[in-house]
Parts: sequence; C-alpha cells; structure tokens
Amino acid sequence: MNAFDYQNGEMFVDSLAVSEIAKSVGTPFYIYSQSEICNCFNAFEKAAKKRLKDFLICFAIKSNANPAILKLLASMGAGADVVSKEELLLALKSGIAANKIVFSGVGKTEEELALAVEHDIRQVNIESEEEAATLNEIAVSKGKKIKAAIRINPDVDAHTHQKITTGKKENKFGINWEKALNLYQIFSKSNGLDLSGIDLHIGSQLLELTPFEQAFKRTSELIRLLKEHSIKIQTIDVGGGLGVVYNEKDAPVDPDTYMQIVHDAFADFDGSIIFEPGRFLLASGGALIARTVRIKKADEKNFLVLDAGMNDLIRPAMYDAYHEILSVKAGVCDQTYDIVGPICESSDIFGKDRRLPLMDEGDLVIVKTAGAYGFSMASNYNCRPLCAEVLVHKNRYALIRRRQTLENMLFLTREPEWL
Ligand code: LLP
Repeated sequence: MNAFDYQNGEMFVDSLAVSEIAKSVGTPFYIYSQSEICNCFNAFEKAAKKRLKDFLICFAIKSNANPAILKLLASMGAGADVVSKEELLLALKSGIAANKIVFSGVGKTEEELALAVEHDIRQVNIESEEEAATLNEIAVSKGKKIKAAIRINPDVDAHTHQKITTGKKENKFGINWEKALNLYQIFSKSNGLDLSGIDLHIGSQLLELTPFEQAFKRTSELIRLLKEHSIKIQTIDVGGGLGVVYNEKDAPVDPDTYMQIVHDAFADFDGSIIFEPGRFLLASGGALIARTVRIKKADEKNFLVLDAGMNDLIRPAMYDAYHEILSVKAGVCDQTYDIVGPICESSDIFGKDRRLPLMDEGDLVIVKTAGAYGFSMASNYNCRPLCAEVLVHKNRYALIRRRQTLENMLFLTREPEWL
C-alpha cells in the first residue's frame, strides 16, 4: 500500500491519521514516512547491487538536511554529497563516515577545502583549474594527499526545467569535457591531489534517460583517452538527477533501467561508481500539510487560501513545479479552486484550477511529493517561521524539527546603539 493514502475516508501516513498529528503539531508542517524513504533507498540500492560490483550512494543533502533523515539514511549505509562546510559537518554529526562523503559545488572556499582535507573525505569534486590549484596547495601545506575528481561538463541537454539543468556548456558547472585531459595531465602529477576520479551531474528531475546515456558515453570516451595518457580513473561519480513522478501524467523512471545504462556505459570499468541522488530518495516520502485559512470567492475564481506559503515550499513559484494536492478528508472532487498561500506575491500559488471536494475553513490539505527541496528551500519571507517537521514510523511519530518562533527568528539580530 502507498505510504500516503486514504483509510476510512481520511488521509493516513503509514498507520497514523494526518488530522490527529495536525491537532497536536499545528500547521503547516512537513510529514515524512520512514517506510517510503526506506523503500526508495532500497529500490535504488537493489538496482545498483544487481549490476555493479562496487558503488556508493551519497545522498545529496541539499534536498533534505534534517538530521533525523540523515541519521536514517546513514543507518542504511548511505554516504553524503555535500556542498557547504555546514553540510559536511552535519553529515559527520549524523553518523556518516568521512570516507563516504563527497564535496561538490562550484564555489568552495579555502576554509571548506581545508576542512575536506582535514577530514580525509572520500572525494572533492573539482570544478575549475583554479580550484584544483588551491586544493593542491592546501593539501600540500597539511602534508596530505586528497582524493579528487574533475567535474566534467559533457554538454548535453538534460531535457528538464532550465533552472535545474547543469550539463550544458553555457552552465557554470564543470569543465568542458574536451578540455579536461589537459587539467588531468597538470594535476595528476601534483603532490596534494590523488586525481583518480571523474565526476558529472547534468541536471535534476530527469524523466528521460537518454541524456544520461549521452553524458555517460562522453565520460567513458574521456576515461579511455585518459588511459591512453596513462591516467587511470578509479572512481566515476555519476551525480544525481533521477526524476520522480509529481504528476500522474508523467511516466516514472525505473532505477533498474537507469542502472542498466550506467552498467552498459562503463562495462569495461573496474573501479567504483558514486551516485548522488537527492530527489529520488526523498521526494515521495515527504508531504506538506496545511490548513485552509479562508475560502475567498472572487469573480472568476474560488481561492483556497492556505496557512502555508511559498516560503514553506517554493517549488511551484520558482520552477512552475506541479505538486498533487489532496484534501485530507476524502470526498468527491467536484469543486475547482486555485490553491494559494498568504504571501504578498502573485506567484504564491500551489496549484491552479485544482479539483477538490467542497472545502471549508479549517480543512486540511496535503501537498504531496514534497520531501525533497521542500523544507530545505524554506525561508522566513514575510517573517513567517520555518515550519515543523514530523517523521512517521509505523504507528509512531516524532517531531524532528519544532516550529520556529519569533524569538528564534530574531536570535541573531542586534539593534545598533544609536537607535
Ligand atoms: N549532485 C549535484 C552536484 C547536484 O547539484 C544535485 C542537485 C544533486 C547531486 C542531486 O540531484 P537530484 O538527485 O536531487 O536531482 N531545487 C530544485 C533542484 C535543484 C537541484 C540542484 N542540484 C528543485 O526543487 O527541483
């Protein structure tokens, strides 16, 4: 059975009624199903195991950085893909071993690179010649040799939203794959870098697998070229990007088929493969629960105004993303609403012309598939507190983040003495 489903006319998450949790936690809040997260991880891992000898799944923390979620993934053997000093420290604190952490990102500071070197992490994914030089200097100064990969830009179109495509040559990411050889030649002789990795990430929410195939083909050609120049690649980091179904109209991507593509592209490779999935592991396991503040009847539209806004879930406003929205109380969907938040921006819309049962003030809705890039992109816009997060495990739940208060929000602010 689906982890988020109706039972006796009420939305449940695993064995718990959403409305009961809402009564004690208040709204809005994110709710996660441990079983669904585990299912996604297991499906990904099983598909990899079937085809690959040596691999590591490094969860992209940017998609969900709640420490309880990280601890859960760590307990299943996940590593982490981090993009800041804080994500690196959080991964370590959540029980993820340093040798399972890769550090990505186009603007790592010297402080961040130094931290990666100090902790001897699994791999630093280098984005430029300048970064390679800095990382080398830092490692040499500490008398260490750090494992590193060059992130190549394979110049393929990921056929996803333009704001989340990263592998075209006009994007800021990676090094043109045709120029990478030169960089490997320079830095494979350096004392501070063990440059035995290659890395790529072409974009997020890919529902077509052909772009992966194209990018992997270029990667494997490059690996062959490097070999001809006596540079041996031991780790291929294929990034993240596997998409999920937000809209029933979309066809799901099968992790099995994806792994077959990885396997076939690198059939003659005997090193290890790193994956950096974020969305695939977390999106379907999380949802946003909000309460109806008001039903506003306008000339053309019925607006269902929620107590959650774009500060809680920015994906619809930022990427025109579709999220399925259901009433927590089941009913015949014979009404049409524009479902909106309370924020003073016209883009604060969760869904237009959605069919729902007749709703009343106080009724709850569930915004589905919000476990990835939901809370992690939330903000205090309009001085709205960051909302609570709840993890459900069978018939138990735990508050894994309390709702912010005004005091929390103001904690770091100071008034200048002249006011
Ligand atoms: N590795 C790197 C280097 C990345 O930049 C990303 C995501 C991932 C892995 C994980 O990708 P995933 O498996 O989650 O697709 N906020 C946007 C998504 C931005 C993705 C940024 N990079 C959204 O809500 O759709």
